[in-house]
Amino acid sequence: MKISLTIFLLLFLICSNSFPQSGGIIPTPEQVISGNGEFTFSKSVKIIAPATFSNSAKLFAGSVADLTGFSPVVTEKGNPSGNITLLADRNINNPESYELKISSSAIEIRAGSEAGIFYGLQSVRQLLITSGSHPIRSQVIKDTPCFRWRGVMLDVSRTFLPINLVKKYIDLFAKYKLNVLHLHLTDDQGWRIEIKHYPLLTEVGSKFDPKFNTMGGYYSQDEIRDLVSFASQRFITIVPEIELPGHVCAALTAYPSLSCSGISPGIHTFFEGPSVHREIFCAGKPEVYEFVFNVLDELAGLFPSEYIHIGGDEAPKDEWKKCSSCQNTMKENGLHNEEELQSYFVKKIGEHLRSKHKILIGWDEIYDGGKLKGDEILMFWRGWKADSVAQAARKGFRIIATPTTHCYFDYNYDNIDTRKIFSYYPVPRNEIPETAGNYIGVQANFWSHIDRSEFNIDKQLFPRIFGLAEAAWTTPANRNWEEFRSAANLNSEYLKSKHVNVYPDKSLH
Ligand code: ACM
Ligand code: ZN
Repeated sequence: MKISLTIFLLLFLICSNSFPQSGGIIPTPEQVISGNGEFTFSKSVKIIAPATFSNSAKLFAGSVADLTGFSPVVTEKGNPSGNITLLADRNINNPESYELKISSSAIEIRAGSEAGIFYGLQSVRQLLITSGSHPIRSQVIKDTPCFRWRGVMLDVSRTFLPINLVKKYIDLFAKYKLNVLHLHLTDDQGWRIEIKHYPLLTEVGSKFDPKFNTMGGYYSQDEIRDLVSFASQRFITIVPEIELPGHVCAALTAYPSLSCSGISPGIHTFFEGPSVHREIFCAGKPEVYEFVFNVLDELAGLFPSEYIHIGGDEAPKDEWKKCSSCQNTMKENGLHNEEELQSYFVKKIGEHLRSKHKILIGWDEIYDGGKLKGDEILMFWRGWKADSVAQAARKGFRIIATPTTHCYFDYNYDNIDTRKIFSYYPVPRNEIPETAGNYIGVQANFWSHIDRSEFNIDKQLFPRIFGLAEAAWTTPANRNWEEFRSAANLNSEYLKSKHVNVYPDKSLH
């Protein structure tokens, strides 16, 4: 009796396959139930989609041509049999969730919004990759992301990245269901976005001293609008970052009066200057606040994102200690030290952003001075400050986790390999349910001070992006390393065939 029950359970599991499995999809879906039979992509396969989903349908049709040998026709009406049908389903509440049914006779994707449809289509595309373009097996997938922020930060300041390269990465990230591109647009080494109010930011601030023989560059506002539209078609939100009060030598070289001393620091390449420059924006001069608000207002008009990142990391306070404007501001506002002055500065910026219906994000240092309101979002990067960030989450701050321990993709693979980021889960084990929801996402950061060429950037990002996608989308209970490893290797081979320089990460061997 015992044996037959065990056999029955085994048979049930084999037939229904309802235990967690990637099914050849990165990131692993929430639920995959295997069926019998398989769907063949014959040349007559069409995509039947309402006009509201035609953008995703067309992008999918173009992106599978190399896998199927043809690009499916997109049409509004047709017989579901033999085809892929995209359906709006109001019962699916999360805009990123989807249900995908694959049978031997048809494929159907349902979602409450186009983002879910887009993700369902990416799952079909990945099944084509991992099946080697063979028929794909019948199955029912119900999928929803674990985190709503699934991001990558690209530093386009230390190395200016041409717009087409940024588009290449946006397109690749979206295929693994990442949904945020955080663009680090300004730093000591360059100001990379046109601001109409302050033309010298790009005329002066986007260029290295010619003796460094390094390319500068910046994005015009038209290019930014084009990039935002390209990303939004792929359900990626671009979140701009303007660094302050530190990491601002490019801006100070253009407008030296914004610093405490008024002296231009010049723009050095990363390895020609200190890694953290001591010149920062003055927090006492009214014109600095006016400058910051004007810049942020232009950003708010360019980026539909509800978030704007204002940096806040690594701001040495030596200049503030010596500056009468900064010291007076501290006295007038009852601030006890320069950390509190930074907090005061950031809080005022947050209030300004709120008046523009935007939410402030800053690196986790913005929490240190203790003066914030609580609706600002902390980007946790200092791996050694996990306790302080956990305390902030308990107080109600929302956290995006990008710690140096797991998420720094400029580090080499000996420190952070794909398996390490695959295993990452940002919510501390002892977190209480009431505040666990304050951890809103996971992001990889790629700083471009070392790796400058497309060839090098590719290898720093891939295959780790697969692990990031899993960490951000899939609950730990559903992650299975062996299944993921197999899908990651197949995706690596596919990307290599498309000339992406995927690194031979030992953890995947
Ligand atoms: C950082 O890595 N300085 C945010
Ligand atoms: Zn000052």
